[in-house]
This record gives sequence, structure tokens and C-alpha cells, in this order.
Amino acid sequence: MKTMKKPYICGNWKMYKTAQEAKEFSAAFLGEDLPNGVRVGIFAPYLQLAALTEAFLGTDVIVGAQNVFYEDEGAYTGEVAPKMLSAAGVTACIVGHSERRQLFHETDADVNRKLKALFRWNIAPILCVGETLEERNKGDAKAVVSRQLRADLEGISEEDAKGLTVAYEPIWAIGTGLTASADDANEMCAVIRNELASLYDAETADLITIQYGGSVKPSNVAELMRKPEIDGVLVGGASLDAKAFSAIVRFDEFE
Ligand code: PGA
Repeated sequence: MKTMKKPYICGNWKMYKTAQEAKEFSAAFLGEDLPNGVRVGIFAPYLQLAALTEAFLGTDVIVGAQNVFYEDEGAYTGEVAPKMLSAAGVTACIVGHSERRQLFHETDADVNRKLKALFRWNIAPILCVGETLEERNKGDAKAVVSRQLRADLEGISEEDAKGLTVAYEPIWAIGTGLTASADDANEMCAVIRNELASLYDAETADLITIQYGGSVKPSNVAELMRKPEIDGVLVGGASLDAKAFSAIVRFDEFE
């Protein structure tokens, strides 16, 4: 349960921001009042990672990538290896975002290989899972998310799993302005934790950070973060603005 953990608040910039815009964001963000008791991560396009690791050097802000390939090197035109991320000072990476699964046809087998590659290079993954609206309306949300977790985590050791973050991101709530109700999000995060406990054990499941993602904004973050199973949030649109994102990081003020 989250009482043991620091909240983990992450921004997923998707395909937004040039290097100049990233620099402007980091200066503005670091100029805001940021609480000590929260872990913050910014997941940016590859080209902006170097500027961000430099801008956030000496701070606690984690700089992460949004995707990775699973081989260490080779003839894979257009891909980026975990070894390259590691050498660039990138310490975290999103895997299996629904946009990658839907638009770029990533399978659970791909996600599984990517997770293993990240653990090999000591890069902390955020694994995204979540159901479509159709699956939710059919009453299949829990089964879909459990199935994704089992396939994505196949062959991943308990020791590695302890360093995992899972983001529950219902696809119908991403970029739509529709947020899952705090109770529904909490219920699904509990389903995820139970599945993790059955794949590993209760102690391991308790150590894993579970985030909610999907139209999180300053006005709804406090209610989500009050829920016992929600350890953090993964924020898309509202993470692009330094003021809005820092307000989300200071969610306690909305209590
Ligand atoms: P959103 O995106 O906050 O813009 O809905 C969330 C995500 O895709 O991680």
C-alpha cells in the first residue's frame, strides 16, 4: 500500500516539445515550489533527453524515455537501444503505452522483451496496461489487465519486479478529458496488485508502485492520490505546462 512509498508523479510528453521548448520547461519547472516528499519523472522524446539530463543534473527529477528496443545493438534502423539510454544518463522508461500498442502494433511479447532489456541495463520501467471502452463495457476490464500483466511479466524475476512501476491507463480515458472515477481507478489498481501478488507474492506486490493515468489534471489529482491503491499518476497533456505539472506534483495542496 502507498503508505510505505513516496508518491511517483510522472509526465509523459509524447511527441511534443523541441529541445528549446524542453529547456524552457525545465527552467520554469525548477523555478516552481516543488515538495521533497514526491518522486518526479519526465518522459520525453529521445532527442530531448540529453538536454533534460543536463537541465536536471543535481536535482531529484528523473529523466525517462517513452520507448526502447530490446537488443543492445545491431542492424535495426531507427531504433534506440537500452545501452544508449543508460549511457545518456536516462534512468527510467515507459513500456507498452497504449499508443505504442495500438498505433505501432506492439504486442505483449514485444513488451516482455523490452522489460527484460531495461532490467538488464538497470533502467526502471513503467509498464502501461489498460482496457478499451469496448472491453470495459463488456465487463472484461479486469480480465484484460490481468492477461496483459501475465504476458508482459513472463520470466521476469521477483527481484526485478520489485523495481517495477505499473501504470493503469484505461484507453478510453487517455487524452479524452474523461477520467476514470477515483473509485474505479482504485479498484483496478487493486486488481493489478492482486495479480502481481499471485505472480510473485504479497510482499513484492506491495513494493511495486502503481500509477493511474488518463486525463489527470490539477483539479482531479488530489482525489485520485487519496485512494489507498494509487501510488502515483502518469500525466500526458497536463505535463506539458510547467505550472500545471508543478501544481499536480503539489497535489497535497488541494486536500
Ligand atoms: P493524458 O495522457 O493525461 O493526456 O490523458 C495520459 C497518458 O497517455 O499517459
